[in-house]
Amino acid sequence: MASPLLCGCALLLYLLGHLATCHAARDTITPSSPLAANETLVSGGDGNFALGFFTPPGANSTYLGVWYNKVSLRTVVWVANREAPIAGAVGDNPGATLSVSGGGTLAIAAGNGTVVWSVRSASSRRLASPAAQILDNGNLVLKDGAGGGGAVAWEGFDYPTDTLLPEMKLGIDYVKGKNRTLTSWKSPSDPSTGPVAMVMDTTGDPQVFIWNGGEKVWRSGPWDGVQFTGVPDTATYSGFTFSFINSAQEVTYSFQVHNASIISHLGVVSSGNYGLLQRSTWVEAARAWNLYWYAPKDQCDAVSPCGANGVCDTNNMPVCSCLRGFTPRTPAAWALRDGRDGCVRSTPLDCRRNGTTSTTDGFVAVRHAKVPDTERSAVDWSLTLEQCRQACLRNCSCTAYASANVSSGGGGRGGGAGGGSGCVMWTTGLTDLRVYPDFGQDLFVRLAASDLDVLEGRSRAARIRIAVGVSVSLLALLLAVAGLLIWLRKRRLTRTAGSSKWSGSRSTGRRYEGSSHGDDLELPIFDLGTIAAATDGFSINNKLGEGGFGPVYKGKLEDGMEIAVKTLSKTSAQGLDEFKNEVLLIAKLQHRNLVRLLGCSISGQERMLVYEYMANKSLDFFLFEKDTVVLDWQVRYRIIEGITRGLLYLHQDSRYRIIHRDLKAANVLLDKEMTPKISDFGMARIFGNEETEINTLKVVGTYGYMSPEYAMDGIFSVKSDVFSYGVLLLEIVSGRRNRGVYSSSNNQSLLGHVSEILHHVVNRIPAVSLIKNF
Ligand SMILES: *[C@@H]1O[C@H](CO)[C@@H](O)[C@H](O)[C@H]1NC(C)=O
Ligand SMILES: *[C@@H]1O[C@H](CO)[C@@H](O)[C@H](O)[C@H]1NC(C)=O
Ligand SMILES: *[C@@H]1O[C@H](CO)[C@@H](O)[C@H](O)[C@H]1NC(C)=O
Ligand SMILES: *[C@@H]1O[C@H](CO)[C@@H](O)[C@H](O)[C@H]1NC(C)=O
Ligand SMILES: *[C@@H]1O[C@H](CO)[C@@H](O)[C@H](O)[C@H]1NC(C)=O
Ligand SMILES: *[C@@H]1O[C@H](CO)[C@@H](O)[C@H](O)[C@H]1NC(C)=O
Ligand SMILES: *[C@@H]1O[C@H](CO)[C@@H](O)[C@H](O)[C@H]1NC(C)=O
Ligand SMILES: *[C@@H]1O[C@H](CO)[C@@H](O)[C@H](O)[C@H]1NC(C)=O
Repeated sequence: MASPLLCGCALLLYLLGHLATCHAARDTITPSSPLAANETLVSGGDGNFALGFFTPPGANSTYLGVWYNKVSLRTVVWVANREAPIAGAVGDNPGATLSVSGGGTLAIAAGNGTVVWSVRSASSRRLASPAAQILDNGNLVLKDGAGGGGAVAWEGFDYPTDTLLPEMKLGIDYVKGKNRTLTSWKSPSDPSTGPVAMVMDTTGDPQVFIWNGGEKVWRSGPWDGVQFTGVPDTATYSGFTFSFINSAQEVTYSFQVHNASIISHLGVVSSGNYGLLQRSTWVEAARAWNLYWYAPKDQCDAVSPCGANGVCDTNNMPVCSCLRGFTPRTPAAWALRDGRDGCVRSTPLDCRRNGTTSTTDGFVAVRHAKVPDTERSAVDWSLTLEQCRQACLRNCSCTAYASANVSSGGGGRGGGAGGGSGCVMWTTGLTDLRVYPDFGQDLFVRLAASDLDVLEGRSRAARIRIAVGVSVSLLALLLAVAGLLIWLRKRRLTRTAGSSKWSGSRSTGRRYEGSSHGDDLELPIFDLGTIAAATDGFSINNKLGEGGFGPVYKGKLEDGMEIAVKTLSKTSAQGLDEFKNEVLLIAKLQHRNLVRLLGCSISGQERMLVYEYMANKSLDFFLFEKDTVVLDWQVRYRIIEGITRGLLYLHQDSRYRIIHRDLKAANVLLDKEMTPKISDFGMARIFGNEETEINTLKVVGTYGYMSPEYAMDGIFSVKSDVFSYGVLLLEIVSGRRNRGVYSSSNNQSLLGHVSEILHHVVNRIPAVSLIKNF
């Protein structure tokens, strides 16, 4: 790629009669030809990287660094003399040089001759003809012989700055005695070592940590044979290969891109008080770096927010809970949602003598786990999962075990007990454990027999209780809902047929899909640049929250229109055509009580949905969190009415029959006038005309809103939405969450509570007659 450019340059200069000065093509310096301050080396091959002197924006010092040669925004990925700058900007330092001496020393000298930085070959062997070269992967090497071959005596990749490039290794090389870490720049104008570091920790089962100052802010979890257990979306990266080597010679992590035209790197940045690890990818069309992934991401990514033996789950409210068989160490703090103190075991383990197998203890599986901190765990690669279990039962201090390599044997990751190989065994409290909806591996936590019994007994009793409670409350809900639906239908029918739809007062048109128009609907496609500009380059400041599929950003288009941009992570295996179809479908659903889709953006792997921006956030915020403004009954009634209309439209009145599958307070957004709008169709399913119910293996949705037959058997139909709608009604009326009501005296869900009340009221009417009357 570079050669046409360079040829062009040569030609131009030739025409100008200055051919002699055009030596920008070189990638090597030798003792006889040092690098001057006004010159850059460009790597051979594809010409991906350049090396030269630079001054960061806003600084008044000069550094020697490596940057992308093909990225129009200068992005420095490596700095040689980050701690020893040359005073003054590049322009004021015409005499600065990078030179390699005959003795094999690579040195940066200021204009006055002072050497500010130098390195030499690690081995004592003298280099016969030393040369320094910038390679096409960004590595600056000092080697013997200027040609293609030549033994490498020193390389920049052993001393990373803040960026991990493809092929660069993070971690420890025991042979070379190198410990490669990334450390952030102090600020964008100061490359010297900042507070944020990415470090490979080899104690126990190796993990990567992000440090910010003296504090750990993120843990990758151990490598499970395929990925880090704390990086849920690695498997969905297409075009990347990740390598983790754990041997006697090295413990390293690196990545490769399959197509060299993809420009991507990992970097640590210090931003305000935060330390972040981020993967950025260059999007030439937008001429901007696109944030591909970052960590820490959510509440559960913090290091051990739920303490020892606590489990963090972002889908729960509060996020912390105790492992089964454990109770909060300080209930008062837990009640205030501070879980850091963790949990303690309710019943001691059966442990009379080390070395004898406990006959009564057992294990409870925690599925989809980011396994606890492995810093003080022990790994035995020779054991199978079953042997691991036995070893754990024999060792008094063993608290849990898991497979060390889920890729062998197939199972282990949410799968059966036999899968995986290698044994990770914890002998301390289980800290920093989190669970994912659909990722992670199985962790087996040791419990005393009595806790296991209680568990089994309780869950059986609970199941019966739930089944009874649910059927009663379901009936009541269905009665209420059916009444409401019939009422709404009637009301609609009594209005003038056809023309004046419910929301006929606004002038935006096309919101209620009639039968005559709408087929020609064209959905605007926004280009990535427009969206990046609108959201300030997906700035953290504009982040509204994290949806089920990726972060949501607020933005403002050039014409002043406010938008919400929902980015879809690469998890969806959906093809482009299906995505477009789905988007078009949502776009055709125009109703006053559904959030309006304005367009979408497709750029390579990136897919985004652009919605109208809702000023008043979501309903759950008003119901459960905001305690200053209480919704009055009129508003609550209007909200219920709006949601009902939206749902009725989805189920009956639109051209398609659509099951939303994730109706909940958080998915009802409110505009300026507090008009409710159903949002988030990411899980919605379209039903054909004949179908009335579908059985699915993959149950998605939110616990607490899922109907029993859906949660247990995966059967869903319009009735599942109606169940969620009923729960939502109860929540709107009571102002309490169905789940997550945390009170020690009455540890019951809202639904359970209501069904109990209902039971008192109707307990003299036999259930059968209720059903008949219904
Ligand atoms: C670099 O600067 C030197 C003088 O300091 C000058 O002779 C040379 O032509 C310059 N080279 C380029 C490529 O500008
Ligand atoms: C030479 O330049 C270096 C780096 O800018 C500076 O630290 C040093 O004081 C200078 N020495 C003299 C003698 O000016
Ligand atoms: C930059 O540093 C040089 C050398 O230290 C000094 O002479 C110059 O005044 C500085 N310029 C600014 C804008 O601070
Ligand atoms: C590697 O460096 C990091 C940070 O300086 C340090 O915490 C860690 O202990 C080092 N590892 C080894 C094996 O020396
Ligand atoms: C790499 O990506 C570019 C641009 O997407 C494409 O044109 C090229 O064919 C790809 N090369 C390979 C080897 O896949
Ligand atoms: C079992 O061994 C551990 C050390 O591995 C020790 O701390 C513990 O006290 C022993 N327990 C019994 C009951 O011997
Ligand atoms: C129990 O396991 C730990 C960790 O593997 C080990 O250090 C300890 O020696 C074991 N104790 C016994 C008695 O086997
Ligand atoms: C994990 O298992 C896979 C499949 O057997 C194997 O290829 C891989 O090398 C194993 N990884 C480790 C670290 O043992």
